[in-house]
Amino acid sequence: MALRLVAAFLLLCLASAAPAQQAVSWKTGREAQAIERRIDALLRRMTLKEKVGQLHLSGRGEGFDIDQVRSGEMGAVMNFVVPTEVLAVQKAVRESRLKIPLIIGLDAVHGFSTYFPFPLGQATSWNPELIEQAAYWSGREAAAAGINWTFAPMVDITRDPRWGRTLEGAGEDAHLGAVVAAARTRGYQRGGVATTVKHFVGYGAVEAGRDYNTAWIPTSQLFDVHLPPFKASLEAGTMTVMAAFNALNGVPATAHHGMLTDLLRGRWGFRGFVTSDFGSITELRQHGIARDDAEAARKALLAGIDMDMMGDAYHKHLADEVRVGRVPMRALDEAVRRVLRVKFHLGLFGRPDVDPAAAPRLMQTEAAREVALQAAREGAILLRNADDILPIRDSVKSVAVIGAMAVPEDERVWTDPAGLGRRVITPLPDALRERLPQDVRIVFKPAFTKNCGTEFAEKEAAVRAAAETDLIIAMMGEDCTFIGEAASRTKLGLPGVQQELLEALVATGKPVVLVLATARPLVLTWASEHVAAILQSFHGGTEARTAIADILTGRYNPSGRVPMSFPRSVGQVPVYYSQLPTGRPERPQERYSSIYMDELNEPLYPFGYGLSYSRFSYADPRVSAASMPLDGAVEVSVDVTNAGPRDGQEVAQLYIRKPVASLSRPLRELKGFTKVMLKAGERKTVRFRLEAARLGAHDDSGRYVVEPGEVEIYLGGSSRAAVKAQVRLTKS
Ligand code: BGC
Repeated sequence: MALRLVAAFLLLCLASAAPAQQAVSWKTGREAQAIERRIDALLRRMTLKEKVGQLHLSGRGEGFDIDQVRSGEMGAVMNFVVPTEVLAVQKAVRESRLKIPLIIGLDAVHGFSTYFPFPLGQATSWNPELIEQAAYWSGREAAAAGINWTFAPMVDITRDPRWGRTLEGAGEDAHLGAVVAAARTRGYQRGGVATTVKHFVGYGAVEAGRDYNTAWIPTSQLFDVHLPPFKASLEAGTMTVMAAFNALNGVPATAHHGMLTDLLRGRWGFRGFVTSDFGSITELRQHGIARDDAEAARKALLAGIDMDMMGDAYHKHLADEVRVGRVPMRALDEAVRRVLRVKFHLGLFGRPDVDPAAAPRLMQTEAAREVALQAAREGAILLRNADDILPIRDSVKSVAVIGAMAVPEDERVWTDPAGLGRRVITPLPDALRERLPQDVRIVFKPAFTKNCGTEFAEKEAAVRAAAETDLIIAMMGEDCTFIGEAASRTKLGLPGVQQELLEALVATGKPVVLVLATARPLVLTWASEHVAAILQSFHGGTEARTAIADILTGRYNPSGRVPMSFPRSVGQVPVYYSQLPTGRPERPQERYSSIYMDELNEPLYPFGYGLSYSRFSYADPRVSAASMPLDGAVEVSVDVTNAGPRDGQEVAQLYIRKPVASLSRPLRELKGFTKVMLKAGERKTVRFRLEAARLGAHDDSGRYVVEPGEVEIYLGGSSRAAVKAQVRLTKS
């Protein structure tokens, strides 16, 4: 380990000797004023065609026309990942009349060359510093390849695991979501790429979890639940916003003047630009609010969409719309101004082109891989560990590793930056081999033809081999078409034939440890009753299997926590911790209370939950004052003890409830958390600052209200936290 750290340090020095990536941030004061003057001057020189060109975003692949770059008709490109190709488009800009640099965008959603866990699997770490670092390296590697804009962070709050894009966000909670959104924004921009906070807004609430479907969100919920992560990303300095595919309360987000212009720019003062999603401007026709692409372009621009991603609607129609006077030149100029503003603040004017020779050496540095490893470790959640079956005991002399996922050809990735160094992924059996004593026999059987788990390859041989070992480690989950965009599901079990295999493995009578790499919380009710342990990851990236082996063998004490409730059955969805009370609270024996005939109300694994090889206890909650005014704050503290036999990290969480207010308020709301390292037997005092201003809620007109009255405070290691304190909010 020491050697590894020294190597990491040396590589870090090497990396810093290489061309530095410029951190990206909004300029202020005189610098910002000077930029506005330069934009004025540039706008005066631009033709109508060149102005429209700045709003046209086209992508690598069929139909990409590099001549549009030369003629000043394209302001942004996407999906160029190979530095020599990036250089080619940068050179084409130099042949254009005004030589306005290109914005070069990419979904570096969870990494560029080094892959970190998918965002949901980073949120599980509840460690904003670590999440920021993962974003930093993602941004830094992308920037080294010439990319200057990423379509991340995705901050959609989702309470419906049927939605396949669940794994791109931070889960169900507004506070956790906001903290993660800010951390990711800071990290990417520090690494040198402008961020795009997306998808504005309501995409995570698509009805029935079906991708691209409509979202109906009451104003109070929109402001209290869905908007806070966007606000947090803006406050952290995000330079661009992406509109969502869905309609929000009947208005397609791509033409939502109320959200894009009144709220985002008016109320929140956002100065960057807004891009559409992929082709979402022309989709306004399918949404039924535009007769043709020209009308779609007009409606989108006037609502507040500055850039047309892959739609060609602006490119083809906007100039005409301006010429005939349906779009005022002023509106076009404003959109162009916002795009140029980002280009100036990003520092693109005068920046040297990408250096393809330098790029490869900045990829997958030891330092980045160390962060990837730690993120994968902290991101995995131990959901179950019956009889402390994990870490693997000394008495275990043979282990069967089952499942094609344990030996991947590559980790699940969003965009594969071809040609920038092969990711070397350690197969799980190899990682275990390195960590278990030599006399422990390890057998591996893929059991399935592919990671998807849809087809068997020698099922019987796998079960037979497993039956002859002391411990079965089955790595399964969702892969292939089951994950990501357009991967909504109605059944939330293990896809394909994996459940069948799991049952056969359990039937051997040998203890089964289920290691999951999924896109969302699955329904694990059967597994929770039949397997000995469950270790959940959301596709952990380049170092996933090394991290899993570290946890299974006890080299790392798991510390991940659930960012999104695991339902007991699909029928419970949406199930989330911060529900409102009902007039007939759950009383299992009482027919006319808010219950199901055939299922409990509680999720299987609640928000905030996660096991450790240690045990943590909470005691002695204190509040610095019995009351506070509406503009005041108190300090809440609690003693946390590691009562277990190992050092470990605990995520101390603070929830509040306002039992009486003018609006019905959630039964619990997360207001703070902190990850603490505690040695075996150690006790630490954890402190939270609780500001009255953060204890209010929005009413149905979008007005934020903080009311006097009692506030209950709950402290503990999950949303079921039981240690209680209270404080009174007073008028003065
Ligand atoms: C997704 C966006 C993504 C874009 C570009 C769309 O389909 O919704 O999140 O950034 O494609 O790849």
